[in-house]
Amino acid sequence: MARRAFFCGNWKLNGSIAESLALATDVRNGVASVRDVDVAVAPSFTALHAVAKRLEDGPVMVAAQDCFWEEKGAFTGEVAPSQLADAGCKLVILGHSERRQLFGELDAAVNLKTRAALRAGLTPIICIGETLTERDAGETLGRIQAQLDGALADMTDAELEGIVIAYEPVWAIGTGRNATPAQAQEVHHFIRTRLATRAPALAPKLRILYGGSMKPDNVRALMAEEDVDGGLVGGASLSAESFIRLVKEGSAS
Ligand code: 13P
Repeated sequence: MARRAFFCGNWKLNGSIAESLALATDVRNGVASVRDVDVAVAPSFTALHAVAKRLEDGPVMVAAQDCFWEEKGAFTGEVAPSQLADAGCKLVILGHSERRQLFGELDAAVNLKTRAALRAGLTPIICIGETLTERDAGETLGRIQAQLDGALADMTDAELEGIVIAYEPVWAIGTGRNATPAQAQEVHHFIRTRLATRAPALAPKLRILYGGSMKPDNVRALMAEEDVDGGLVGGASLSAESFIRLVKEGSAS
């Protein structure tokens, strides 16, 4: 089953509006000629609308880094999925390990956010991944299963069809220590097998991205694995030059 490669730059808490516009413009120009790949960037909330306007009609999509599950009301500081769609977003990253670890986000919240995002027409990129302690204790697959089942609880096949999964081992994020291709493939294959128990016809079509110190010089080996369909890229997406190179290397393999 050929799945279209997909790379999303997660800019995290970085960039003024002007800096985000400059980076987005360089990325758009740099990947314009790359075929058979989907590309997105995820700026901070404050830059979303400006970046989406700059990128409209181009091939690069805009993702938000989080959203709330309610549409409106007394929820100070929260942003609704429909507001993100209104700002020009097509996707939203949900359940990132930084949100889980630093802000106490639970699987049940990721589930609510995922379903709300889908209702607003956004593609959720659902992040799951084990800590180093869990890996060392041999709990990786159990942890992945629990996060996956929690995030996707009670979802219909129609809902599942609209999702993207990102496997991001916490110990590989921002550390310069990426999972080996074999380690990534083991977990990606497990995720796909688990998805197949829920939706057998859909599982071969769903994209599973890898995230965690993905760089231009390791992307090819990771993408060579059967179940690695792209990347959620942090540090290497903050420079247009490295992100463009990563997209080119990753889509050529
Ligand atoms: P790094 O690529 O900086 O390791 O970050 C990965 C990540 O968290 C993407 O969401």
